[in-house]
Amino acid sequence: MELSILLVLVLISMLVFSAFFWLQSRISPKEMEVIPGSLGWPVVGESFSFLSAFSSAAGIFSFMKNRQQRYGKVFKTFVLGRFTVFMTGREASKILLTGKDGMVSLNLFYTGKQVLGPTSLLQTTGEAHKRLRRLIGEPLSVDGLKTYFHFINTVAMETLDQWSGRTVLVLEEASTFTLKVIGNMIMSLEPAGEEQEKFRSNFKIISSSFASLPFKIPGTAYHNGIKARDRMYDMLDSIIAGRRSGKSIQQDFLESLIMKHSKAEGGEDQENKLTDKQLKDNILTLLVAGHDTTTAALTWLTKFLEENPAVLEKLREEHINIQSKRTDGASLTWSEVNNMPYTNKVINETLRRATILPWFSRKAAQDFEIDGYKIKKGWSINLDVVSIHHDPEVFPDPEKFDPSRFDAPVKSFSFLGFGSGPRMCPGINLARLEICVFIHHLVIRYKWKPLEKDDSVQPTLVRMPRNKYPVIVEPL
Ligand code: HEM
Ligand SMILES: *[C@@H]1O[C@H](CO)[C@@H](O)[C@H](O)[C@H]1NC(C)=O
Repeated sequence: MELSILLVLVLISMLVFSAFFWLQSRISPKEMEVIPGSLGWPVVGESFSFLSAFSSAAGIFSFMKNRQQRYGKVFKTFVLGRFTVFMTGREASKILLTGKDGMVSLNLFYTGKQVLGPTSLLQTTGEAHKRLRRLIGEPLSVDGLKTYFHFINTVAMETLDQWSGRTVLVLEEASTFTLKVIGNMIMSLEPAGEEQEKFRSNFKIISSSFASLPFKIPGTAYHNGIKARDRMYDMLDSIIAGRRSGKSIQQDFLESLIMKHSKAEGGEDQENKLTDKQLKDNILTLLVAGHDTTTAALTWLTKFLEENPAVLEKLREEHINIQSKRTDGASLTWSEVNNMPYTNKVINETLRRATILPWFSRKAAQDFEIDGYKIKKGWSINLDVVSIHHDPEVFPDPEKFDPSRFDAPVKSFSFLGFGSGPRMCPGINLARLEICVFIHHLVIRYKWKPLEKDDSVQPTLVRMPRNKYPVIVEPL
């Protein structure tokens, strides 16, 4: 009796397995055979090792590194339901990032797509993408940002006022700072109070849903993310309604988009017309794309400075020099913040060394060839940016933190801190502005020591210190 049950079980599992293999051989592309690498188990592929690398100390990058050691710089895999090819090098980056229109599109995880919505900048291509970038580009341009400089400077000083003699989690502080800035830019949110708290807590839930599995069951990160997104949209709806009724008038991002929208309704300016859905999807997109990245950059920068006293000394010199030219009591000015050459090298070196986004993901929209490999429509191609940023030919002794690498311009497609081509980061000027202002006040006032030595990273798409970088701060 027992034996027959066992036999049946063996038979069933053999059937299931052969069905899996049959399925895999049916759906795995023949063209992929020439590319080194393993597609892993049927159906699940290498998803389990992908997910376990994700939560390891070295982070998601270890998945890539592991396979590169085994297969070389170009390899294939099958993760989370996708045939994926990893590539690296300047040639591949040139093709993938500047590729002719319609050759590739941005490749988001399913969860990200669902949370951000179909009209997000991240999900549009071609002309629609260009148009959206134009619309959001204006307030994020250097001129557009001038309006927000005073607010950014004030919030940075107020944040740092609280640091004296305390233990702080740099990542939390950086997160609060950048969220206050973007909340104010977008919808004139006050830096403190109930609305700010609501905004902050909803945003945090949305943000952590991005790296979750797409199970829409109550209690999962994904489900909570969608719910928080809906609350955020309700908040935006009521602000938009307030603006339309003329009850409140502000000078912010939302206002400029609403103005364009109402002008477009008149008829002649259809180009700039955005529906409310598009408006909300893209405001959320800016929040999502801009927050964790800037927070991570500020945190890594603070960490690298402490670990490299000579760089900190030189940076401090630049800022004390700026300060000493001021008359008593005056604060940082717009023209000063636009003239910080060494600080900008330190920012670039931080983005190189930390490589906050370890790879850029694209989906082939047509067949093409890179480095002799034939890429087929529908495949995911991930550009390994960590290897590009640590290429010893371009950056000798790549692990070293050395801003003087940027004394001379680096070769094109060697430094991709903000990406390149039509999808290059539209928030670059804002990110630089926030970092320059914050770092200015930090280095002229304080010194800091980490409370523990830990180099592991968080299980998120954006690389950040897992321990949030706790430091003890003292006045200079
Ligand atoms: C230090 C901070 C930042 C870093 C390191 C960073 C990095 C990047 C990179 C590398 C890309 C290109 C990704 C790719 O090609 O796949 C990108 C795109 C993007 N970034 Fe940033 N970013 C930062 C801050 C910001 C800020 C502050 C905003 C907005 C307020 C922002 C909004 C965006 C958007 C919307 C895109 C997508 C552009 C498109 O698809 O056309 N980023 N960012
Ligand atoms: C930093 O990198 C950007 C490219 O993202 C480049 O345009 C800029 O010149 C670099 N700045 C410095 C000071 O090297």
